[in-house]
Amino acid sequence: EKAGFETFMLKEIHEQPRVIRGLLDRHLDAAGRIELADLPWDREFFRTLDRIMIVACGTAYHAGMYGRLLLENLTGLAVETDLASEFRYRNPKISGDTLVIAVSQSGETADTLASIRMAREIGCPVLSICNVPGSSIVRESDGVLFTDAGLEIGVASTKAYTAQQTAFILLALYAARLRDEVEPERSAELVEALRRIPDAIHYVLERQDAIRAIAEKHHDGASSLYLGRKFNYPTALEGALKNKEISYQHAEGYAAGEMKHGPIALINEYLPVICICTQTRDEVYDKVVSNLKEVEARNGRIIALVTEGDENASRLAEDLIAVPPTLDELSPVINVVALQLLAYYAAQARGTDIDKPRNLAKSVTVE
Ligand code: M6R
Repeated sequence: EKAGFETFMLKEIHEQPRVIRGLLDRHLDAAGRIELADLPWDREFFRTLDRIMIVACGTAYHAGMYGRLLLENLTGLAVETDLASEFRYRNPKISGDTLVIAVSQSGETADTLASIRMAREIGCPVLSICNVPGSSIVRESDGVLFTDAGLEIGVASTKAYTAQQTAFILLALYAARLRDEVEPERSAELVEALRRIPDAIHYVLERQDAIRAIAEKHHDGASSLYLGRKFNYPTALEGALKNKEISYQHAEGYAAGEMKHGPIALINEYLPVICICTQTRDEVYDKVVSNLKEVEARNGRIIALVTEGDENASRLAEDLIAVPPTLDELSPVINVVALQLLAYYAAQARGTDIDKPRNLAKSVTVE
């Protein structure tokens, strides 16, 4: 059942190109048009919407943070993402024209379920991005976008995450088209890049031995810091979460721009700093490079995730993981795979039970 892989997690990491290709085959036609035919809402609904509120926990929350950036960028709507466990106990300003999106692999997470119950009581339409048909969250939603990642057994979520990211890309492009918010050329450029993602992930998977060597070199430290910005800030959080969950090594994800406001004090010659520097066309690229210089000046040990051919960030790193070029907006889907492998091999070097890490359950059905 592990299809020759040593763990379910590694198998699921390797399934990601196929899962994403499946989602694209299902929702993208030959002309590059996205159709989400199962959603119960028409063009008018998306045009009159006021805002979007995304709620989720854990890894699904990181997907929601990424989704927020995409939806905000493409649809012109105000979008917020919150942790379901916080959202349900605050007094959110939502109403009938707020679309609430719940993101959940299992569809059974107690806080996420309670959040959508609360939202529906207020009168909000609820869309769930979910992996399990017939689950509680699916049953209690008005519309569902299935992630179709197949059964995920490893407690640490991998293929469900990249499927959630892909679902958000599809949804953002779809809603943007219905709202006439995206230029056809921009949409076509994004769709073309989206089609290349499965191959780009393959490329990363083919280099897993190099990633393993980096993980083995740094696995015995007490802690590590993950830095990213904008589209890859959620990637940094997700990389750190993966590392914590399966290797039991403390790891912290941070927005790179916040470094000066505290975490820079942690940097010394022992701290691995994993820095995501792949948004090469973005205005934040130079800023991330200056953050790297600050780490270098304090003798931090830099592991940089860079785009192939990159020279600026590469020069500053002790270790490099190169990924194929893509659009900045889509880079998190590829980057996270490298971080999943980094966490995986760190955990292997530390001898943990990767598929069933201590104290964790696959589905959190109690608060
Ligand atoms: O089933 P869900 O997506 O609602 O679960 C949410 C979190 O419990 C889950 O993502 C958790 O953080 C994973 N173990 C992460 O790998």
